[in-house]
Amino acid sequence: MNEIKNRICVYQGNIVKLGTDAIVNAANTSLLGGGGVDGAIHAAAGPELLEECRGLHGCRVGQAKLTKGYRLPAPYIIHTVGPIWQGGGQQEAELLASCYRSSMEIAAEKRLSSIAFPAISTGVYGYPRQEAARIAIHTVAEALQQHSGIKKVYLVAWDKETALLYQSLLEQL
Ligand code: APR
Repeated sequence: MNEIKNRICVYQGNIVKLGTDAIVNAANTSLLGGGGVDGAIHAAAGPELLEECRGLHGCRVGQAKLTKGYRLPAPYIIHTVGPIWQGGGQQEAELLASCYRSSMEIAAEKRLSSIAFPAISTGVYGYPRQEAARIAIHTVAEALQQHSGIKKVYLVAWDKETALLYQSLLEQL
């Protein structure tokens, strides 16, 4: 498992600054932008991103779609739609895991070697941070076993609490 652990790292800061092959956007089903990290990515990528997103005709919860990164340092963006937290009885855990899995699959298909994830669903969508962090770490670790071409996954925390959660879960992996 050490080989897998060495391919995951925690980064606290603004995901739009990262020059990984792809950054993941915590989008909504319209893919037409919003607040939070979605808003930050669209603002940094510029208007061409919205044009490309219009042509994608939305995205289902738990699924993911690829666009170019435009003015971002990252050449690609993988847009995924996390579940809205409704108490845990609506398949939220499976849908959140599917966001990470689908995004990793797209990265592998595109032969990308590095990808950065925000803490999907833990903002506006209200997913409890601790449980979301556990799903992120375990799903990414599992996907890294399948996709040897992905050399680095950055779990990006906007706040200290999330960063510490990722760090401690990563150490326990
Ligand atoms: N860089 C990294 N992480 C960020 C950034 C940023 N620039 N901005 C916010 N975050 C963090 C938040 O602190 C949170 O931990 O990203 C995580 C996800 O929060 P949201 O962006 O609110 O996303 P989510 O909870 O998945 O809700 C998605 O919000 O913005 C709308 O259009 C979006 O409807 C969708 C919904």
